[in-house]
Amino acid sequence: MRVMARRFGAGFTFAEVMLDRFVLSVSRGRKATRYLRVSDEDRPAAAQLMGSEPEEFAQAAGVLLEAGFDWIDLNFGCPVRKVIGKCRGGWYLGNPQAALEVIDRVREVLPPDVALTVKMRRGVDDSPASREAFFTILEGAFARGVNAVTVHGRTVKQRYDGPSDWGFLRQVKAWAGTRLIFGSGDLFTAEACFRMMRETGTDAVTVARGAIGNPWIFSRIRALAENRPLPPLPTVREQREVLVEHLRLSLETYGEKLGLRTMRNHAIKYARLHPQYLDVRNAFVRVKRLDDWQTVLERFYQDDAPGRDPVPDMT
Ligand SMILES: Cc1cc2nc3c(=O)[nH]c(=O)nc-3n(C[C@H](O)[C@H](O)[C@H](O)COP(=O)(O)O)c2cc1C
Repeated sequence: MRVMARRFGAGFTFAEVMLDRFVLSVSRGRKATRYLRVSDEDRPAAAQLMGSEPEEFAQAAGVLLEAGFDWIDLNFGCPVRKVIGKCRGGWYLGNPQAALEVIDRVREVLPPDVALTVKMRRGVDDSPASREAFFTILEGAFARGVNAVTVHGRTVKQRYDGPSDWGFLRQVKAWAGTRLIFGSGDLFTAEACFRMMRETGTDAVTVARGAIGNPWIFSRIRALAENRPLPPLPTVREQREVLVEHLRLSLETYGEKLGLRTMRNHAIKYARLHPQYLDVRNAFVRVKRLDDWQTVLERFYQDDAPGRDPVPDMT
């Protein structure tokens, strides 16, 4: 997905979060080539780390750099209950001193020219204590040399219920001044990305759900950035070409079993752009083997037709 995003114009990518212990245990062997691999087409690329021990974070950061990632991002936002129960991810938002200790240890082991960034939700919940903890981490992070902070405008408690609070992002950016803040939350269209930057002042945006099965969002963002009109939605034949290439990359990266499973999840999202959305979606849900892929492509992607706007089905 990262390579596809880059080909369509994304300026940088973050790899999916990895547990520090996982990184330390897979740093050699076949799994390493799957998870710790950075394509030449995907530069700069950040690796994101999650963990609970500053020392393990630091060691894993070293492994990721050696594997070829360009910078390290720390996850202080994951809202999954099991993750928080293990003092990882969003747990740090309620424990600012522990978060700052992790930043200290990781910054120490990274060469000065390697960037360190942090990803946070806007807090554990809506309480004043949570807000204070957020700003303690933010201030401490920048004081320790963190280069940018990505803020998702939902709380941990909120998970995905309700909107991302862009008003909070505006406050964060006003507080941060010239220090870099990247915005996250509810970016499903190219227009929304520019609206977020305009309304909140964030320096960049990170597209998440809006890009799954929809790499075209990046070419649309590029078009608006260059004052060009939005390109038309991709036709069915264009979608087919991209699906086939994404599948090829997925198989090459993950091998047949995991590659097919991963790609099926993406294809279900790609289906939103197809005029027969629900039929195509249901067909991809049933795909198991490589042959099944061919069958779906022949049945639904043979004849050209205009693409469908995927946005109404994105949340
Ligand atoms: C399937 C999925 C996987 C995600 N994985 C990560 C992750 O590994 N690290 C991270 O910081 N955020 C992760 N996120 C959160 C997104 O980066 C983003 O902050 C969040 O989805 C809000 O943006 P959106 O409303 O535009 O999707 C993930 C979100 C989704 C839907």
